[in-house]
Amino acid sequence: MPGTELFGIEEKKEINDVLETGILFRYNHDAQRNNIWKAREFEAEVKKITGAKFAHAVSSGSTAVACSLYAAGVGAGDEVIVPPFTYIASVEAVLFAGALPVFAEIDESLCLSPEGIRAAITPKTKAIMLVHMCGGMAKLDEILKICKEHNLTLIEDAGQAFGASYKGTSVGLFGKTGCYSFDFFKIATCGEGGVMVTNDEQCYKYADSYSDHGHDHVGNNRGMENHPVLGFNYRIGEINAAIGLAQTRKVPYIREKNREYKKLLTTELSKIAGVGFSTLADPAGDSATFLNILLPDTETAKRVVDEFNKAGVGGFNYWFTNMYHFINQWNHLRDLKSAAKLPIHVLGAPQDYNNLNLPKSQETVGRLISFGIRCTWKEEEVKALAHKIGGCIKNALATVPA
Ligand SMILES: Cc1ncc(COP(=O)(O)O)c(C=O)c1O
Repeated sequence: MPGTELFGIEEKKEINDVLETGILFRYNHDAQRNNIWKAREFEAEVKKITGAKFAHAVSSGSTAVACSLYAAGVGAGDEVIVPPFTYIASVEAVLFAGALPVFAEIDESLCLSPEGIRAAITPKTKAIMLVHMCGGMAKLDEILKICKEHNLTLIEDAGQAFGASYKGTSVGLFGKTGCYSFDFFKIATCGEGGVMVTNDEQCYKYADSYSDHGHDHVGNNRGMENHPVLGFNYRIGEINAAIGLAQTRKVPYIREKNREYKKLLTTELSKIAGVGFSTLADPAGDSATFLNILLPDTETAKRVVDEFNKAGVGGFNYWFTNMYHFINQWNHLRDLKSAAKLPIHVLGAPQDYNNLNLPKSQETVGRLISFGIRCTWKEEEVKALAHKIGGCIKNALATVPA
């Protein structure tokens, strides 16, 4: 993690294929492109790995979230239940769709909890934006049950969980629509890119048109077809797709190595009293991009972070480090700052974002420390790292706060 660890001749070959044709656009130019269609190949590879019936590549994970909401029919005035712990793109996409985010509690899975979701449902709730955080997965069985009971649309932001699965099905495929990010810090990268997935053909068609100004892409001549819906430009370019294609093929290997090293670290660190880990609804489906340590409390986590910094170990806490993944850092959102009017300026916010009562989320994120797993580590390095991390945690646990 991230996929850039494994850049090699495979990525260069795919990029070169594109450069030799000179066609950087994913549509048209059939005569010049020598049958090189990297965006299509990238989508086929994502379908192969995830088992999705439909996959549509776009310019980023953020625009893939936007496509997911649009294609699932979430829009003006709808309330969407969102987690306070995610990359802010999940919440931005809800607002820019014209919908209203309603924050609910997460739990030790680091994702929205079933109880949190239940407490946030109102008669206006249309959808749940379920974000599978830090390479793992949410409690899908219980959450799907809630969706059924309350007739809610499930959208899965699996931006951080490409390669993860729950009971054998890839995350991203439980909801009406789902999406993955392939930015520079993900298990596989395009540089910038994202993919929206669905098993629903109509959703796929909506996303395909939405991401390209409404073109329906029927026939061979883009520009001369029909426009079933309004859209915008969220297209991916052929070079980005070419990189994503080569990277996606490497995901099974990266995931296997990640799992091996995460297991080694977990085995060693679980010997220390006071060290826990985020929960996984299906441990066998973990993409294992992150080791997520849960300490007894926020104060201890702060001392551990200080010890890590002193020892140059890495690792971060989303509470103390400005990682931009927790609502505490989203002042602009809480204060509803925007250059243009947002739905909350017109319709009113469904919650007071400056006075949210999310104690479980605060407490969980406060005692969380995450480490990115690197598939290029050697076993000896992982053992040495486990020793170093363990030493820091023991020092911090032994320190009695003044
Ligand atoms: C959960 C989640 N959703 C969406 C995104 C946005 O992806 P991108 O950076 O590709 O726009 C990210 C990026 O980190 C993410 O972590």
